[in-house]
Amino acid sequence: PEGQRILVTGGAGFIGSHLVDALVENNDVRVLDNLSTGQRDNVHSEATLVEGDIRDGETLETALSDIDLVFHEAAQVSVQRSVEVPEKSFEINTRPTLQILERARTDDIRVILASSCAIYGDPDYVPIDEEHPPSPSSPYGLEKLTIDRYARLYNDLYGVETVALRYFNVYGPRQTAGDYSGVISIFVDQATEGDDITVEGDGEQTRDFVHVDDVVRANLLAARTDAVGEAFNIGTGSSVTIRELSDMIQEVAKSNSDIVHVDPRSGDIGESRAEIDKAQTKLGFDPRTTLREGLESLIDE
Ligand code: UD1
Repeated sequence: PEGQRILVTGGAGFIGSHLVDALVENNDVRVLDNLSTGQRDNVHSEATLVEGDIRDGETLETALSDIDLVFHEAAQVSVQRSVEVPEKSFEINTRPTLQILERARTDDIRVILASSCAIYGDPDYVPIDEEHPPSPSSPYGLEKLTIDRYARLYNDLYGVETVALRYFNVYGPRQTAGDYSGVISIFVDQATEGDDITVEGDGEQTRDFVHVDDVVRANLLAARTDAVGEAFNIGTGSSVTIRELSDMIQEVAKSNSDIVHVDPRSGDIGESRAEIDKAQTKLGFDPRTTLREGLESLIDE
């Protein structure tokens, strides 16, 4: 996009802040973030940070003033946390999206939103295409399915230009390691600190890990696509088991950490791998970073 007034919700967070970096040069960028997991330091100096909560209707309304395009990245991103506090997770992940879509309807705003492969639940087959029946196995998955469907409905009913990007497992710089963070940030932290690498369950569960730079590119493509009202899988089309991941990180980090197995998670997905044909054909999306390259650059930092 060029010469647009853009709102990035969650723009101080992991994916949002990388997106802001890619947008500031040619656009007027506003960030809405409550800095609960996001960091002020992540926000590019040329973007305007509005510090506030997306659950606060007035704050969100103000942030949406005079905007052409919204990237909605603000969310409670932990599947595990959604299992622990489903009501809170719902409030963060669902209603604010509807408010954004309502404003988009009156103000002609295009909305690109962060959906997730968690909407598919434990898949019947892999690779998972967009036609795979949704069957979320966590509150988080259900919340993302809800907003993914609202996006399509707002296009059908009111002609709002929406695109839902169903992210697979995104990783990269600025994904902070914490109890509720992505597994790669946790394993890299453990491997470099010399702590035990904690594989949950037997480690045979698979994930399709996609680098944040590729996810940013997918968002930029979505901002100018004609394929509105659509949802796209954003992954690489390859997957690894969590055990393979732990071995690879141990090796790349030249770590002497032990790999230990701990209890599996409830609501965890067994297998995951994206079919990305649709994103390739309709968006022109082509993931460029292999997992190994992504891990090497992350660990080199
Ligand atoms: C992640 C994202 C979610 C996204 C989804 C898409 C985070 C926090 N969550 O959920 O927003 O929509 O991908 O698939 O980024 N694991 C371990 N040891 C650990 C931590 C995790 O073995 O210390 C395992 C988990 O049990 C799980 C796998 O790693 O099997 C991935 O976990 P996690 O990174 O939390 O991602 P998802 O639950 O897939």
